[in-house]
Amino acid sequence: MTAKDHDQRRDYNKQVLREADLDPDPIRQFQSWFDEAESSGLVEPGAMVLATATPSGAPSARVVLLRRTDPRGFTFFTNYDSRKGRELAANPRATLVSYWAELERQVRIEGVIEQLDSADSDAYFGRRPRGSQISAWASPQSDVVTDRETLEQRLTEVEARFGDGEIPRPPNWGGYRLVPDLIEFWQGRESRLHDRLCYRLTKGAWTIERLAP
Ligand SMILES: Cc1cc2nc3c(=O)[nH]c(=O)nc-3n(C[C@H](O)[C@H](O)[C@H](O)COP(=O)(O)O)c2cc1C
Repeated sequence: MTAKDHDQRRDYNKQVLREADLDPDPIRQFQSWFDEAESSGLVEPGAMVLATATPSGAPSARVVLLRRTDPRGFTFFTNYDSRKGRELAANPRATLVSYWAELERQVRIEGVIEQLDSADSDAYFGRRPRGSQISAWASPQSDVVTDRETLEQRLTEVEARFGDGEIPRPPNWGGYRLVPDLIEFWQGRESRLHDRLCYRLTKGAWTIERLAP
């Protein structure tokens, strides 16, 4: 294969981010950017990259869907036995990153992960479509599977097991909450002189600093 340069350039100039515009609480600030992303009609504004790492520091990353923002943090749902689940069990520090291209905005959130109470995970699982509930039982997320047919066979078995009855939450499936200690808001500006405003939790209070782009 021959090398290919990706040299296209865009200037960013849609909006500005000033210290005076910010909410003193970064989670409320995130919610207000998220609301704008939603009302702008973006596809999957809640899709975020979740980065985890092994205790020795080997990183891995994948997309998850943000399902809840509240004063305690940011919640997503997954399989606790998956690769991310295993990494988080050994090293609970994680990062979430949103990128809303149409708004020229990025948010990065760093902190510590905790598992949701089982009652909260049960409540969310109960609201999922039945097909997703069945897949959660059928799919040993991140394990190697022989082929697609094997997965579909597992699905059929789970369907037969539960019949028309209510499907309980699998014990290895549920929510994680990222409790933040750093949240950075990035707004694209002209000539790469972007705005970066970073909240850090120090001794229980949020401070805000501007970072060089
Ligand atoms: C748009 C999008 C949304 C996704 N949302 C989730 C999610 O909420 N939870 C989840 O476990 N996987 C989600 N995935 C799949 C993950 O990216 C990943 O493939 C899976 O969680 C296994 O990751 P792991 O092997 O690193 O644990 C999503 C993928 C995409 C592209």
